[in-house]
Amino acid sequence: MMSLKGRDLLSMADLTSDEVRAILSLAAELKAGTTIVRCEKVLGLLFQKASTRTRVSFSVAMYQLGGQVLDLNASLTQVGRGEPTIDTARVLDRYLDVVAIRTFAQAEIETFASYAKIPVINALTDWEHPCQVLADLQTIQEEFGGLEGLTLTYVGDGNNMAHSLMLGCALVGMNVRVASPEGFMPHPDIVAKAKHLAGDRTEVLVTQDAKLAAKGAHAVYTDVWASMGQEDEAESRVPLFQPFQVNEELMSLADPEAIVLHCLPAHREEEITNAVLEGPQSRVWDEAENRLHAQKALLAMLLGVS
Ligand code: CP
Ligand code: NVA
Repeated sequence: MMSLKGRDLLSMADLTSDEVRAILSLAAELKAGTTIVRCEKVLGLLFQKASTRTRVSFSVAMYQLGGQVLDLNASLTQVGRGEPTIDTARVLDRYLDVVAIRTFAQAEIETFASYAKIPVINALTDWEHPCQVLADLQTIQEEFGGLEGLTLTYVGDGNNMAHSLMLGCALVGMNVRVASPEGFMPHPDIVAKAKHLAGDRTEVLVTQDAKLAAKGAHAVYTDVWASMGQEDEAESRVPLFQPFQVNEELMSLADPEAIVLHCLPAHREEEITNAVLEGPQSRVWDEAENRLHAQKALLAMLLGVS
């Protein structure tokens, strides 16, 4: 069994394709109940943004592994009163076995990780959301029996989800297309990294044409048009993003067997219509469930207990 003992997961690009496959394979075994992993470790959750899925799935995963979870919500700790990250990191490192952090700047988790020896997991930053992508890939693999050669199309804001999806798909040999409005494209550094990871094996396409991107896709993915921390822009973005809505018309261009994914929470009739979210192609509830299995596998491997 491959070990990731002591490693951090700050970006999807921290993993190799073999490591992603190993996490997905353990996640599938844990889900099926064919493998049981036990540990008595302590996970800290240091979240500076709201969360339902990530908070609960990490907590339940750790409880099911036999470990404990500590809520280190910024408002309950000195973090909320401005204690420096470099101090918090060195102190929590002495108590915890692993920490999952949800915050704004990617630089903050990088700083934390450089001052803590325990595994540090990116539970969402403005830059990336790698844990979500592990569950997304698990969901696609369950549907199609594999990943290589499939095409994922992400339509919407070139945000943290778009970034981690681009890297994750490139790593596992999937084609990835991102369609975003001008001014909201994924960051060029991520596009370059995804292209580097993909090599000449698969396509990495960034476009402003949602219809072109959706053509023949096996998975169509979207996310909110304004992420946490961007609430002030939510209203002004609506007209710009309207042509990037995932609706039945866009889905008619995808592969007939295509599935629809959304990290949730969703804003019905904005980035996705109710009909598509609740329709037969939607796999969003399996996707949400898979957060539990994928993160349990990730925890087990980072803690070296798998
Ligand atoms: N998808 C996701 O990360 O959801 P939460 O914000 O509820 O954790
Ligand atoms: N892009 C969204 C994802 C939420 C899971 C956000 O950052 O708010």
